[in-house]
Amino acid sequence: MWEAESKEHGRVAVKVGALIDEERGYTALAPAREASVLHALGRPHVTYGTWGRGTWSVQPWYDGDGLWPLWSRHRSDASAPIDYLTAAECVEAVDRLHSDGWCHGDIQPAHLIVTGERDGVRLIDLAFARRGTVKNLYDFLYPGCLVHYEAPEISRNVLATGRAVPSPSADVYALGASLLISATGKRAMVYPDDAERPVQRQAVVDNKRRPFDLPAPFGPMIDAMLSYEPYDRPRCRTSRLSSGERPRKPRATADATPKQRNSPGPKWAGAR
Ligand SMILES: Nc1ncnc2c1ncn2[C@@H]1O[C@H](COP(=O)(O)OP(=O)(O)O)[C@@H](O)[C@H]1O
Ligand SMILES: [Mg+2]
Repeated sequence: MWEAESKEHGRVAVKVGALIDEERGYTALAPAREASVLHALGRPHVTYGTWGRGTWSVQPWYDGDGLWPLWSRHRSDASAPIDYLTAAECVEAVDRLHSDGWCHGDIQPAHLIVTGERDGVRLIDLAFARRGTVKNLYDFLYPGCLVHYEAPEISRNVLATGRAVPSPSADVYALGASLLISATGKRAMVYPDDAERPVQRQAVVDNKRRPFDLPAPFGPMIDAMLSYEPYDRPRCRTSRLSSGERPRKPRATADATPKQRNSPGPKWAGAR
């Protein structure tokens, strides 16, 4: 991925995909598939094509911080206040995608760009997103995602068949795991750092949940999002999390401590 400057459209993200190995054949197709998804979602200024070893795409660049660097302060100081505004904006971003009938399939902290502007959080890397028509030539079966953020039912199916079907409730799990790891540095499940992917997936299937200690209502909310059964997880829409219409500050950076990002919004109460 490169950040580049386009004469017509300003800053853009240029993605180039090539075949890594037979097992992950999708890496060559991912840029074009993502661009097809962005077209289907009606996003402007997206182009794509092929090259000798795969596909490429160009899309607008979103200025902001990934959730992981943005929340570094909380990881180094557990008593730092919870950034409820950003958490609610993450939920809203996922809810917008779900409301359009799509699921993301690959939610992780690096794919949540916190802009600090009115559009809140932008979800990026939609190469695995599902719903409508994706240009057949570039489509591929969903291979699962990074296991740290993979819901138990996805891990179970990937172990059994090598494939799975992404869903909004699996996105909710992935978002819960993303919020947890960004706030605490802890993965949702316990497995050795150097465990092979099948071992990681088996730990997820065996529900080796890691205990964590985060204040209410943030902690209980994440706990519910990480429920083992999909039907026990809140939906983004029904979670009643909302960043509301609070006035915005200029874009937050990883070092900044924007005040309104730390105030618990009343809409977290009773969320579930
Ligand atoms: N449209 C975008 N705007 C801003 N940053 C982006 C954008 N697309 C990708 N990035 C950055 O590039 C990284 C890699 O891009 P991504 O689409 O996740 O590709 P891959 O997972 O194949 O590496 C992201 O984690 C993010 O930091
Ligand atoms: Mg990515």
